[in-house]
Amino acid sequence: KKKDDSLFDEALELIKKKNALLIAHYYTSDTMQRLCEAAGGFIGDSLEMARVGRDSDKNLLLVAGVRFMGETAKILSPDKTVIMPDLKAECSLDLCCDVEDLKRMKSLHPEATVVAYANTSAQVKAQSDWIVTSSLAVELGKYLTKQGKPILWVPDRHLGSYIAAQSDCEIYCWPGRCIVHDSFEENALDFVKKENPNALVLVHPEAPASVVAKADYVGSTSQILNFAKKSEAKEFIIGTEKHIFYKLMQACPDKKFIEAPVVSSAGHCISCANCPWMGLNTLESLIRALNNPESHGVNVEENIRLGALKPLDRMLSFSA
Ligand code: 13P
Ligand code: SF4
Repeated sequence: KKKDDSLFDEALELIKKKNALLIAHYYTSDTMQRLCEAAGGFIGDSLEMARVGRDSDKNLLLVAGVRFMGETAKILSPDKTVIMPDLKAECSLDLCCDVEDLKRMKSLHPEATVVAYANTSAQVKAQSDWIVTSSLAVELGKYLTKQGKPILWVPDRHLGSYIAAQSDCEIYCWPGRCIVHDSFEENALDFVKKENPNALVLVHPEAPASVVAKADYVGSTSQILNFAKKSEAKEFIIGTEKHIFYKLMQACPDKKFIEAPVVSSAGHCISCANCPWMGLNTLESLIRALNNPESHGVNVEENIRLGALKPLDRMLSFSA
């Protein structure tokens, strides 16, 4: 505890001394989110993180999240230094979407509009017409449906089927999934619902369709948080990564939040949804990054950056 306190103070001092803006995702640890609050940083969903990094006048962005979030910050702000506590913080969706596979898919569906989830590499973004985050996906699906063109969607199969169901568009869907959200399971959820009959079920759209079908509300991390704040309900079952509980409980101290159960491939019920890559953002790794920015920098090759910038700008204008 004492060691943690002194690491916390050291991290806070360094952030101030280096005049860095700490931008953290809701899935980082409670300690990281506390640090972010103390340092006057920003905590948000992936769309908000992108916008805040772009609009900041600080020259050093410290992104506590996973790699695609750091890359997005660098693509939007090439003149800023973007560092991450641990450059090995991947995302299972990014990892399952190889750019060469996407090129092959594109050649099979040359008529389709390529829409990539933000949880992808800069290379994949550079091959795409649009980028979306979960908070915009359905809206963009509806917009593209009106244009009458099919969508080639990468890489999350569950979000893809949710967009298709909500917007009635023709969609060619990549088979990827997030290892965290894919583990929510409808029968286990039914069990928790029975035990908490008054609770509303709030779910991230990366969860399987059978779980999304049981939700009272489906949305991005920020949208889930806002829904919980505004709702008159007092109890909620939350189907997303467990660290969002930090902000949920802070924003709604009088409400009760219950974890939707996660089931392993062997059928065991595990208590909570935990993203291992988000967990790499520790006080130690953050301090190392601030002390050694040259070995923690996110860099994107210029021609890839320019290719990825177009669909990212399109997304930001669409959401404005
Ligand atoms: P949000 O855009 O909802 O923050 O989602 C990011 C993410 O990685 C979900 O798993
Ligand atoms: Fe990627 Fe899933 Fe982790 Fe989000 S929770 S960063 S989608 S692996």
